[in-house]
Amino acid sequence: MPPRVTVVGTGHLGASHAACMAELGFEVLGVDSDEMLVDGLRHGEPTFYEPDLAPLLRRGLDSGRLSFSTSYQRAADFGDVHFLCVGTPPATGSYRADLSQVNACIDALAPLLRRPCLVVTAAECARRLAELSPAGHGAELAWNPEFLREGCAVRDTLHPDRVVAGVTSARAEAMLREIYARPLAEGTPFLVTDFATAELVKAAANAFLATKISFINAMAEVCEAAHADVTVLAAALGHDARIGSASLRPGLGFGGGCLPKDIRAFIARAGDLGVGQSLAFLREVDAINGRCRSRTVDLARELLGGSFGGHRVGVLGAAFKPGSDDIRDSPALDVATAVQRLGAQVTLYDPAAMDNARRQCPDLKYADSMVEAARDAHLVLLLTEWQEFRDADPEIMAKVVAQRAVVDGRNALDPARWRAAGWRYRALGRG
Ligand SMILES: NC(=O)c1ccc[n+]([C@@H]2O[C@H](COP(=O)([O-])OP(=O)(O)OC[C@H]3O[C@@H](n4cnc5c(N)ncnc54)[C@H](O)[C@@H]3O)[C@@H](O)[C@H]2O)c1
Repeated sequence: MPPRVTVVGTGHLGASHAACMAELGFEVLGVDSDEMLVDGLRHGEPTFYEPDLAPLLRRGLDSGRLSFSTSYQRAADFGDVHFLCVGTPPATGSYRADLSQVNACIDALAPLLRRPCLVVTAAECARRLAELSPAGHGAELAWNPEFLREGCAVRDTLHPDRVVAGVTSARAEAMLREIYARPLAEGTPFLVTDFATAELVKAAANAFLATKISFINAMAEVCEAAHADVTVLAAALGHDARIGSASLRPGLGFGGGCLPKDIRAFIARAGDLGVGQSLAFLREVDAINGRCRSRTVDLARELLGGSFGGHRVGVLGAAFKPGSDDIRDSPALDVATAVQRLGAQVTLYDPAAMDNARRQCPDLKYADSMVEAARDAHLVLLLTEWQEFRDADPEIMAKVVAQRAVVDGRNALDPARWRAAGWRYRALGRG
């Protein structure tokens, strides 16, 4: 019998993981404490936007392989492998990860475990699991870091670049090999390691990506001072096979529920390990990322003649990246609210994140389309590079604005085309 899988915490990561596990042919039970979320998932309706997830959920539910519940007892009775996918937000007043959701999960699940099973969660939970699960029933911990990207969660889960298995027994390794049999058959590398290395792989991967993004954004600062063009610089660097062009797009920087908090948690972890100096550069990575937001606000102010007061600003984008409705630590919303705070009247449009943005920022005005957000604006700010915004026609946009001025916060537009249509165009890192 193939192992039965539970996924505890069916938010962005967990719902995608559960649906993908069902797609891979396993029987899957998703468990979450949020009844509304569970109810939506039972009806095949995720409460967040993730391309390709809804049809997969539907297929899983229709096949009878995928179900959802709020009951830990059902999870304990059902699962051979329990993936804990609850949140790890930053702790209040600290860079450290707040593990209270993970601990609450272990506290609720472990005492109910009555048969041999694998609990896949953070390495530091091993002792807690051992203490709380009834002796002699064989509950074991594994650490299987998840690298999926929002917006490509389904693809990344079904066809991961690699699978990392932090395990302490051959049995745990065998179970994870069985879970990932299909991707492994496609040639996905499978790296078996101890808990400490598995944890560091995840943290180091995020730190590297963040560093690459902040590197090119630091180059953008230098390009501005030197009157150079960072987009050409980035293209030239990207052609170097040792460097590569991924994550080398200059602009407003990174945000979301993972990268910013994960690099800060990594800084805190290094401090705890007594090697804080080794990751001191990550503080600068974080600072550069923050400056992208303030420099975008500065560019906008400049284009408006030095002050936001009395100006209408049309903002395109609220999600932290295209292909997602996630607004956690979103650079776009950060800039939009800063501009409004400084005296502008902001009207915002995003193809997917409107409901979330409205809830978090009820004081902004919202429009039903890109053109309506730009109507009568003295300045248009492109802050999330949705394809719809990349494809915007500067001639059509010119007809609705009060003034042809655009800040391209993602270096997503063709400046020559916009300038030819009479727009004053500004972007970070372009002279
Ligand atoms: N979102 C991503 O792209 C991504 C990628 C890789 C790793 N991760 C990691 O995955 C984890 C989850 O991230 P997310 O973005 O899905 O978060 P999320 O906030 O969207 O989902 C967390 C879910 O856990 C549920 N939950 C909280 N406490 C619970 C409990 N005690 N019992 C049952 N359910 C509980 C919440 O109701 C929520 O639905 C985080 O550690 C994150 O760092 C996320």
